[in-house]
Amino acid sequence: MADKTLRCGIVGSGFAARFHYEALQRVHSVKVLITGAWSPTREKLEQFTGPRNIRSFNSLEELIVQNDILHVCTPPSTHEGIVSDILANDRDVIVEKPFTGYFGDGTEDFNGDLFSRETGLKKTLDSIKRMLEAEKKSNGRIMYAENWIFAPAIIKEREILKKTRAQILWIHGEQSHSGSHSLSYGQWRYSGGGSMIGKGCHPLAAALYLKQVEGKVRFSKPVRPVSVSARTHAITRMPGFSDEGYLKTYYKDIEDFALMHVVFEDGTFADIFASDLVLGGVNNRLEINTTNHRTICNINPNNAMQTYTPDKNHFQDMYIVEKTETKEGWSSVSPDESWFTGYQHEMEAFYRSAAYNEPVESDSTLAADVIATIYSGYLSAEKKGTEMPVTLL
Ligand SMILES: NC(=O)c1ccc[n+]([C@@H]2O[C@H](COP(=O)([O-])OP(=O)(O)OC[C@H]3O[C@@H](n4cnc5c(N)ncnc54)[C@H](O)[C@@H]3O)[C@@H](O)[C@H]2O)c1
Repeated sequence: MADKTLRCGIVGSGFAARFHYEALQRVHSVKVLITGAWSPTREKLEQFTGPRNIRSFNSLEELIVQNDILHVCTPPSTHEGIVSDILANDRDVIVEKPFTGYFGDGTEDFNGDLFSRETGLKKTLDSIKRMLEAEKKSNGRIMYAENWIFAPAIIKEREILKKTRAQILWIHGEQSHSGSHSLSYGQWRYSGGGSMIGKGCHPLAAALYLKQVEGKVRFSKPVRPVSVSARTHAITRMPGFSDEGYLKTYYKDIEDFALMHVVFEDGTFADIFASDLVLGGVNNRLEINTTNHRTICNINPNNAMQTYTPDKNHFQDMYIVEKTETKEGWSSVSPDESWFTGYQHEMEAFYRSAAYNEPVESDSTLAADVIATIYSGYLSAEKKGTEMPVTLL
């Protein structure tokens, strides 16, 4: 298998499709052939495939059967159906976050502010079960594209935990920025929620993963979450919100702030913040407090490189770092954002798993735990923060 070229196809032709394509250029331990992509809008598909000299497939079915590994880079509401089709064809599938969720009752005017979170949780758990069942029946595997698991800072902390056998006491994680670019993100029926799922899934996944690592080192079994208390707010939709134009404000029926307090089975905990209310670029940070060390993973921003200019016009054509409002003054440049955020490392790891049959580090169990915790979090938020159990599948 190792000498074989793995053929891959990309489902979707938007933002995630582009960074998956770029990350694949940096997979070196396995031979990869990106054959092409498919997405429902032909014009946009061709804008993606044309400059990259890859094929525009005519259907999802055609893309699946002509490839060994498929990348699902489509809105969250489509993940379950597409992943299930791929697994039914015994192919490996790399699926973007969030794994799945609850996307309403199928009606156009579904309102994410109004549905019962109990129903949302139940339907989400059903969706997760169906996806895990599809994987069980398949020769293909689910690879959960949570890039934080492969960010060099998190990989280094994994090594520290393994060598020090430390107990993690509490974790403080955050992903925030000034708002998402994708219009489908603002509507629950496509996104399955707001900041808590869209952004909180990243630091939450890293926290759950590191407790898994700790458990496997110390007790030969992962430590998993048991309960969550959460609050959500929709600040930019409040009548009194004073818009100065820096934050995105197009959200229809999702929250733009979330806080999750997650308790693990050993009584330790993680506090996760996620919001669309933060200026100054993407804030991707995880702090791990343990019995023998304290680690701060500054995924973004960090001070690997800093630059100053008195006039932003000098940097007009220069990419500096994701989502800062201005390039004037001091900036924390990300000299290689894909490296710091783990995109290329995750692709390398997934293709090694596929080629050499290695275990999948970011697997369907982690994906399931993240989503189950988040939808218990939505139920807790509906009850103004009451602690709710997390159902582990
Ligand atoms: N890991 C990360 O850092 C990260 C960053 C951004 C987005 N994402 C995830 O990537 C996924 C895609 O987000 P995006 O920002 O690329 O969105 P996007 O809107 O830029 O692109 C979505 C693509 O999906 C296609 N699509 C829409 N409906 C479809 C359907 N029913 N079937 C097949 N294709 C369909 C669209 O044509 C488009 O090509 C989401 O799950 C998002 O959460 C992850």
